[in-house]
Amino acid sequence: MEFSEVVRRRRMVRHYTDQPLPPGAVDRILANALRAPSAGFSQGWSFLALTDATDRARFWPFVPTRVQDTPTMQDAPLVVVPLAHKRTYLERYAEPDKGWEDRAESRWPAPYWFIDTGMAALLMLLTAIDEGLDACLFGIAPEHIPGFRTEFAIPDDYAPIGGITVGYRSPDIPPMGTRFKDRRRDPADVIHRGQWGDK
Ligand SMILES: Cc1cc2nc3c(=O)[nH]c(=O)nc-3n(C[C@H](O)[C@H](O)[C@H](O)COP(=O)(O)O)c2cc1C
Repeated sequence: MEFSEVVRRRRMVRHYTDQPLPPGAVDRILANALRAPSAGFSQGWSFLALTDATDRARFWPFVPTRVQDTPTMQDAPLVVVPLAHKRTYLERYAEPDKGWEDRAESRWPAPYWFIDTGMAALLMLLTAIDEGLDACLFGIAPEHIPGFRTEFAIPDDYAPIGGITVGYRSPDIPPMGTRFKDRRRDPADVIHRGQWGDK
């Protein structure tokens, strides 16, 4: 698929069939996540991949709104939870070529551990489209994170940035609510050429 078509077709899809993914798709999606850029080449990310129905069933209680409001979301044959690991960044940037030996968080212009994990997540979303599949990134509410960690034995210093479903979209997908209809912001409102505002 042409790259511009991949970008144009990517929408968050919240209704799936339980049709299994094509052979190799899970591996290709995960492999592409690891191609994401990362600050200082830190790669301070990890990915919990749930493909077995029993493992996926262990996950959904931690995202109850999805179960309630979009029940076929649970049919998606793949759930990936990308996790950000701050300490990898603090340690990488304490190395001589970066020199932030004090490991002070105030040095960071933005939390690169979340940025990089988000970039990896986007690559997974785009790879799903390229595979002829659909995907959705959704949040895991803070109150559910401790239980989620315990259920999947995730160490405390790995922060889930959300969950990603991948699968075939349901043929009887309900029409998008007006809230989610295409209402991209006007480029003139958000792109500032040369300077912010009028010259
Ligand atoms: C960081 C992030 C968190 C999101 N969280 C949710 C979520 O919890 N539930 C959901 O249904 N969609 C979630 N979305 C999807 C957005 O609602 C969606 O990207 C937006 O409405 C634009 O639609 P599109 O991605 O289909 O173009 C999230 C997207 C991002 C980038």
